[in-house]
Parts: sequence; C-alpha cells; structure tokens
Amino acid sequence: MRIIVCENYEEMSKVGARIFAAQMTLKPDSILGLATGSTPVGLYRELIRMNSAGEIDFAPITTFNLDEYYPISPDNDQSYRYFMNENLFDHVNIDKARTHVPSGLAEDPEAEGKAYDAAIAAAGGIDIQLLGIGVNGHIAFNEPDEELIVGTHVTGLTDSTIEANSRFFASRDEVPTRALTMGMASILGAKKIVLLANGVKKHDAVMKLLDNTITTQWPATLLKVHPDVTLICDKAAYEG
Ligand code: PGA
Repeated sequence: MRIIVCENYEEMSKVGARIFAAQMTLKPDSILGLATGSTPVGLYRELIRMNSAGEIDFAPITTFNLDEYYPISPDNDQSYRYFMNENLFDHVNIDKARTHVPSGLAEDPEAEGKAYDAAIAAAGGIDIQLLGIGVNGHIAFNEPDEELIVGTHVTGLTDSTIEANSRFFASRDEVPTRALTMGMASILGAKKIVLLANGVKKHDAVMKLLDNTITTQWPATLLKVHPDVTLICDKAAYEG
C-alpha cells in the first residue's frame, strides 16, 4: 500500500484529485468508481475546477458509485444520486447517462445488485475506485460482521451508521434502515484503489488498515490483498 500523509484536508483533496486527473489523461474513457460522504467533497471540488480550466474532460468518462440508500428516491436531497449531482455531475461535462448509482427505487433490490455488478463487468471493470472509510472500518455499506458479502447487495444499516448519518436528516427516524452497496469483491475488483481519510476520528481505522492483520470486523483491512491501493490521509488521521 502506498501511503501519502498530507498536512490537511485541502492538500489531501488536491493530491487525490491529481491522481484522478492523471488517470483521466492516461485513459480518457476511464471507468471511475466514486464515493459519497464528507471526505470526497474537496476532491470533487478540485476536479470541477480542473474541468472548468480545461485540464480534464469528463465527456468520455463512465462512473459507478459505491452505494445508495434503500428505499429512496433520486430526488430526495439525502439520496446519494442527489449528492453526486450536487457535488460533481452537475458541474462538469459528464454525460449523466454514463453515471451509475444503484437504484434506490429498484423493485427487486437483489436483482438490482446483480445487474449493477454485470454493468460494471460489461463496462470493462473499474479503472480507479475512490473510497472513504468509516470510523468502524466500514467500506461503503460493508459493515463489520462475521461474514462479508461478495457482490452488490442489500444490507441493513448498523445503529452506529444510522446515528452517524442522522446528522443529514431531519430526524433519526427518517434515515433509511437499508442500503444497496457494492460488496467487498466488487470493490476489490477495481484495478486501482484510492482511499481518503482525514481527521483524528479516523485514526483507529487507519491504524487497522496499516497493521498486518485482515479481519471482516474491520472491512477496510481486506484492501490489504489488493496490489494497487493508495492511502491519502491527513496528519490527524495518521498520527492520531
Ligand atoms: P465520511 O464517511 O466521508 O462522511 O466520513 C466515510 C464513510 O463512512 O465511508
């Protein structure tokens, strides 16, 4: 695993954005794996700036997002589809038809999961996957458990994740209790992985990522089997 320790959030976001820009330059029709949450917002802001400056082109790009609440409408301002439109897609020259987020309205979520993995495979696989990490080591909605699921699937949210995400909703009761998420094998199938972590609250998760164990109780530790992972973190997450 490559480790890049940055001074702060701004620098982490810029270093991450430069890696995505380099990927888009080397392979203009790249398949990007994208993430939601507070962590990637600065990286997306930087990609928007580079796109406006004519440095990177989103026209030939395809994207797949990690996850979506279930059930939820894409028009709901808490949906991850809405988040991606607001924080990236509406501000760059991407063809929205080539942006994929699991459907929070799918009638059969299991079938949606299978179709999502099939669509990723049909596109040729993800070239570079952006990830955040939960304070409990979760990756997307793959929460600590005795077993983790291989492909894209429906999952219940843990109490700690419902609690963490309730800050975005009017009340805790409004947080959906389920989600569609790419599974750990879908994520590990990406050719390159870039994981961002900032803030002292991510320190324990970063330490688990850097020790020499793998456990489904810290899903991020499975990334250790991947040959091309870059961790970009700020000093607070690295040093505690
Ligand atoms: P955050 O979430 O970016 O809002 O900290 C990361 C995650 O839970 O994966």
